[in-house]
Amino acid sequence: MKSIGDCFELNNGVRIPCIGFGTYKAAGNGAGVIEEALRSGYRYLDTAAFYDNEEEISEAVRASGIKREELFLVSKVWKDDMGAKGTRAAFEESLRKLKTDYLDLYLIHWPRPDLETGDWKEILTETWKVMEELYREGRIRAAGVSNFMPHHLEVLFDAAELCPAVNQIEFHPGYTQEFTVNYCKEKGILVQAWSPLGRRRVLEHPLVLELSEKYHVSPAQLCIRYALERGVLPLPKASSPERMKENQDVFGFEISREDMYRISSMPPAGWSGEHPDFERVRF
Ligand SMILES: NC(=O)c1ccc[n+]([C@@H]2O[C@H](COP(=O)([O-])OP(=O)(O)OC[C@H]3O[C@@H](n4cnc5c(N)ncnc54)[C@H](OP(=O)(O)O)[C@@H]3O)[C@@H](O)[C@H]2O)c1
Repeated sequence: MKSIGDCFELNNGVRIPCIGFGTYKAAGNGAGVIEEALRSGYRYLDTAAFYDNEEEISEAVRASGIKREELFLVSKVWKDDMGAKGTRAAFEESLRKLKTDYLDLYLIHWPRPDLETGDWKEILTETWKVMEELYREGRIRAAGVSNFMPHHLEVLFDAAELCPAVNQIEFHPGYTQEFTVNYCKEKGILVQAWSPLGRRRVLEHPLVLELSEKYHVSPAQLCIRYALERGVLPLPKASSPERMKENQDVFGFEISREDMYRISSMPPAGWSGEHPDFERVRF
């Protein structure tokens, strides 16, 4: 990757910009932040029904004047809407709010509705079947998942025909989910990093600080570059034009092999406390 204009290729041949803009809580002050992100060069917007900002996103897109086909729009079906009917309805609602007639990528946000639902595998299979239908109908250019571990993915492999194109998981120095990342690589599933900056929790970690000084970059740039060098697509969120730009300016340095190993094997740090199979841990 040489610039934000470069792309990864998904397992169905669709090209996806190599850095996306994370929009969770980004539209707190309306569409302005998203508009700023588009102005600063992002073309890939990561949203979800759960973020409750799809209308602001469509407003920002309209105001930007950027053509729909130049954008990569991603949304996700929320836990409460899983199942055949719910997923269809949630998809239509996302399209209505985003004022578009297709999505570039649609994801299942979490593998199970909640920890109490005993038949989650059945519900997950039904949900994925709708994703397959939407893909075949040409309403989404690619279908994927989020927060899946290998045992969740295997439910899909057992019952479905379409292999997910993407798995969006928490990924940053101190929480790199090696087992899941390696599994996805073997299956040809592109891993995306949510909270690639560990929502700031890892930006002052001694190793991150040491290496950012060594490479003359900011801690955030080091984290984003680390994801890219792992072949993982980062989705940083930022509020100011300066940070939006800074987070794209990651193509002028390379992290050495030794330092990549040091980051990958640093002690656990900055985990959000979220895991699909356990109650959220609050720190
Ligand atoms: N699939 C999922 O379950 C899931 C879960 C969580 C997130 N996500 C996606 O991933 C995206 C990113 O994750 P995230 O928002 O949790 O965390 P993040 O991108 O790791 O971190 C965002 C935080 O870092 C700050 N920041 C941004 N650029 C910075 C820089 N250059 N220097 C210092 N601080 C900087 C931001 O502050 P300011 O905003 O004040 O600039 C914000 O507080 C989300 O927006 C969402 O799209 C997906």
